[in-house]
Parts: sequence; structure tokens; C-alpha cells
Amino acid sequence: MALLEVEGLTRHFGGLRAVADLSFALREGEILGLIGPNGAGKTTVFHLVTGFLRPSAGEIRLAGRSLVGLRPHAVARRGIARTFQIVKPFPGLTVKENVALAAFLRHRARRDAEAAAAEVLERLELSHRSGTLASQLNLMDQKRLEMAKALATRPRVLLLDEPMGGLNPAEVDVASGMVERIREGGVAVILVEHVMKAIMRISDRVLVVNQGQKIAEGPPAAVVQEPAVLAAYFGKRVA
Ligand SMILES: Nc1ncnc2c1ncn2[C@@H]1O[C@H](COP(=O)(O)OP(=O)(O)OP(=O)(O)O)[C@@H](O)[C@H]1O
Ligand SMILES: [Mg+2]
Repeated sequence: MALLEVEGLTRHFGGLRAVADLSFALREGEILGLIGPNGAGKTTVFHLVTGFLRPSAGEIRLAGRSLVGLRPHAVARRGIARTFQIVKPFPGLTVKENVALAAFLRHRARRDAEAAAAEVLERLELSHRSGTLASQLNLMDQKRLEMAKALATRPRVLLLDEPMGGLNPAEVDVASGMVERIREGGVAVILVEHVMKAIMRISDRVLVVNQGQKIAEGPPAAVVQEPAVLAAYFGKRVA
């Protein structure tokens, strides 16, 4: 059984089908790249899986149990964490305070949440910024903080929404390594990313969506050569 199973997932906004009859599975320990042109429905898929939006139709199961209808905090408790396309830490809190807040999902005592936060910050090489206000971080460290907050909830599945947006090529390599280490730590990952170098390097499989529908799925090198994918990205002429 796959860890996360999505079947026939559909979401309308008025007349627009942002996600249309989408089915896919995420296996234990896998990095699944989720790509597609702007407006393809990628972020909407994350909103649906995490309970921020309700599906118009379809099923979402984590380890065989349905998540449909659960509120975001309940989905997080089941073991799904996400990062946001636009990072939003509490700017007036320190790095450690931000991460400890997330860790309260699994801990009651402040001391335990702080210990869990310290451990996650160590793993993401952000310990030296523990006492820094979130508002004072550079972009790379903001991305680290976003991942640290997600990991502090001890997820089984991590959904990353464009974690590499705005990073320079060297920083993309660092972020790619971070995602690989997160996977090695036993967390399955869905990576939405426009930086193709990262998708190609670290995804085990890639799922391509366009206008809410799956248009290709498979190993990264094969998928990017499929005519439907080239057409979606570069226009019909290429196909
Ligand atoms: N709350 C909403 N109300 C109405 N339309 C929405 C809403 N959220 C998303 N949409 C529309 O749904 C479609 C899919 O949007 P979505 O944000 O999921 O795309 P995306 O693949 O994440 O794009 P990008 O790569 O630009 O982030 C778009 O046409 C978008 O305008
Ligand atoms: Mg998006």
C-alpha cells in the first residue's frame, strides 16, 4: 500500500476546474516531483491534501485512512506537513520560538517543544540562528526555517511548495541536499518546484499536471521528453 493515495481528486472554483480527476500515489521514502505550468493546480492539490480546502470530489488517504473532511490541524496530527509558496513565519518571534510553536503539535510541555525545536534546527544547520528574529533572516535561512517548522510537527509526508524559488544556483544545491536528507530521515516528500535542475536531480518520479489534470508521470528524464509535457510548457508547436 502506498503511504499517500489520491484518487479522482477534483476541485472547482465556480466554473473553473482547478484540479480535475487527479489520481496519484506517494510511496514510503519517496521524493515525488509535482510540476506543471503556472496555474496548473499544484498549490490547490496541497491545499486539498492538507485540509485547507475541501475537495469537490475524490478521496485522499494516508496509510489507508481517509483525510477528507479533516481540518488542517487534524491532518497535521495524522502526519502531513507543508511549506507555503510565500513563506510566513511569525516575524516578531525568534527562529527557535517559531519552530517550537510548530513542535507543540506533538508536545505539551514547553521544555519538550523547545528540545524538539533545537533538534530540528540542528538537523537543518540553522542552530546558529536560533535567537535571531525571523524577520532578520536572509532568504536561504527563511527557507530553512520554513522546512524546520514543517519538520517540527514530525510528519510522515512533507509537501514543499516551491522551496527553491528565488535562490541562486549554489543555494538550490544546498536546498536540494536538505530535501534529500529529509527523505533519508524517513519522510516522504512531494516537491512542487519550477527549478527543473532540482526536480531532475532529486525526484524519484515526476507527476506533471496541466489545467488540473495529470498529463504525464514517470522517471524525471523520461517525463520531460514527453510531447504532452513539452506542449504544456512551450506550446503546441513543439508537439
Ligand atoms: N481560492 C481560489 N479561488 C478561485 N480560483 C482559484 C483559487 N485558488 C486557485 N485558483 C485558480 O486555480 C488554478 C490553479 O491555481 P494554483 O494556485 O493551484 O496553481 P499552481 O499550479 O500552484 O500555479 P503556480 O505555479 O503559479 O504557483 C488557477 O487558475 C488559479 O487562478
Ligand atoms: Mg502554486
